[in-house]
Amino acid sequence: MPWTPNLSVGVKMIDDQHKMWFEKAEKLFDAGKNHQAKEYIGELLAFLDDYTKKHFADEERYMLSIHYPEYEAQKKAHTAFIAELAKLRNDFDTSGGSLLVILDANQMVVDWLTKHISNMDKKIGEFARTNH
Ligand SMILES: [Fe+2]
Repeated sequence: MPWTPNLSVGVKMIDDQHKMWFEKAEKLFDAGKNHQAKEYIGELLAFLDDYTKKHFADEERYMLSIHYPEYEAQKKAHTAFIAELAKLRNDFDTSGGSLLVILDANQMVVDWLTKHISNMDKKIGEFARTNH
């Protein structure tokens, strides 16, 4: 599940952050698969949570800077995903660091971001290219 060029939005800052995000998600997946310590997995999960928030904030700032018309829909999607991530961290903590929880969770976050990039983020790049 690495970042692949077909996921390019065409805005360097956004693409770079997406690449980093996929790298971190992969690290989390590997840690889960290799039964690494739950403290370490918890740390990776916390990092992914923080990084996602930072990424969404940067992406939202960029959309505002180009007066992107679908900003509100993007922000809504981001907020919903942040809530999902919070739920997932909570599930992981309450499960006592279950492997199943972390592998499922990983699948969910990667699927979500992949779809979000394809369906929504790519439009940001298209708008930037045609209107600026
Ligand atoms: Fe987005």
